[in-house]
Amino acid sequence: AKKHKVTVVGSGNWGSTIAKVVAENTRENPNLFEPIVQMWVYEEEVSIPKSSKHYDASSELCSKPQPLSQLVNQLHENIKYLPNIALPENVVANPSIEDAVKDSSILIFNLPHQFIPKICRLLGGKILPFARGISCIKGVEVSESGIRLLSDQIGEELGIYCGALSGANIATEIAMEKYSETTVAYDPPAMDSRQPSPSGSPSTSQVNLVTTDLGDLHSATSKQAQPSKTKLQALPADYPPLTHETMKKLFHRPYFHVRLVSDTAGVSLGGALKNIIALAAGFVDGLGWGDNAKAAVMRVGILEMVRFGQAFFSTTHHTRATTFTEESCGVADVVTSCMGGRNFRCAKMALERGMTVEEIEEKELNGQKLQGISTAREVNAFLKSQGMEADFPLFTAVYNILEGKIKPQQIPDLIEPKDT
Ligand code: NAD
Ligand code: 13P
Repeated sequence: AKKHKVTVVGSGNWGSTIAKVVAENTRENPNLFEPIVQMWVYEEEVSIPKSSKHYDASSELCSKPQPLSQLVNQLHENIKYLPNIALPENVVANPSIEDAVKDSSILIFNLPHQFIPKICRLLGGKILPFARGISCIKGVEVSESGIRLLSDQIGEELGIYCGALSGANIATEIAMEKYSETTVAYDPPAMDSRQPSPSGSPSTSQVNLVTTDLGDLHSATSKQAQPSKTKLQALPADYPPLTHETMKKLFHRPYFHVRLVSDTAGVSLGGALKNIIALAAGFVDGLGWGDNAKAAVMRVGILEMVRFGQAFFSTTHHTRATTFTEESCGVADVVTSCMGGRNFRCAKMALERGMTVEEIEEKELNGQKLQGISTAREVNAFLKSQGMEADFPLFTAVYNILEGKIKPQQIPDLIEPKDT
């Protein structure tokens, strides 16, 4: 019987952490997974910093910048994006995306959301047609045709089913194996749940390649997203079925607790919208207003998050308010992101130093990317197209602060409910 080969597409702060998590699990479950985990690296030349334990002035490696993928494979550490964390030796960094995804039946997407269109173009026709995806990316896609979940964008562009993983997950804490929990939304087509075939089952080329419509993939054009038809190819019978149980075996660690749900939209939207709330928390903290102010924007932000899901994804995606209020991907991610996330920290620093959030990102993050700025702009463009900016006053205020149209001091008045 075959085993699932796993590729992580992306190797930033969170991409490298997730590669560590899944590589520990593929090694422990060799009956289900190939132990080697491929990790696609966007190649760049990196110098080993003097502060690194790998620095040795006399070594050839330290004499000049080296390709990041080679450093990861030699040092078993991503010294640029996840420094001081040992990666398991079965994580293999690969600068060729085509080679990294070759023959992989599980693709884990984990890179800043602005790069998804390029990645999907590069991957078109290069992946197994029956591969299954999980998006760990926080954001949404907004275009003239409406709003799309990133898991749907990836799924539709590549013609595969793609679920989502999101939660209160500051990457470095998980990389250090400090306890945290996450939510995985995986609602694959029923044809994936069949029992493993007995020995002598047909080979991949002979298996039933029935395709099916996946009603919940969509492209939103008006208030509620419109389902589109994506033809899916069945997982061949000689692979272990890709059920919730298999997904749990891939992601759950003693320090990383996984809860599985079916609400892909709730999980995806929680991760996207909390970044707007984290910017708001950074702005009020940057004013020196303290924890009560932060709690106020968190409260209003969570309400707007629930309202957003209900307004735009409840009919087609069956988004549940409880995904936001009860799972790690909702309220818990708002809390952790507003305490220590990069969006929060950069927004706070921007106010304190009188700079833009983009300038702080460029100066302070050593190549890591914020998702909140673009998400605030994308969500605003969508709300404007629906004539609903006023229904989401906090999201709208954050956008207007980023655009320099209003001051953070105006947030309290703007989020105050208006008398009708
Ligand atoms: P990151 O912020 O570390 O971003 C840097 C990554 O972008 C690097 O891997 C870099 O190689 C890559 N990159 C730069 N230019 C590129 C290009 N032109 N094409 C392709 N890739 C390029 O990334 P991250 O923290 O791994 O975040 C990935 C996603 O995970 C984001 O959506 C983020 O919101 C989400 N996330 C992050 C965390 C966290 O704590 N870091 C936690 C949960 C979720
Ligand atoms: P930042 O990207 O703001 O650091 O948030 C990390 C995160 O998503 C925590 O769950």
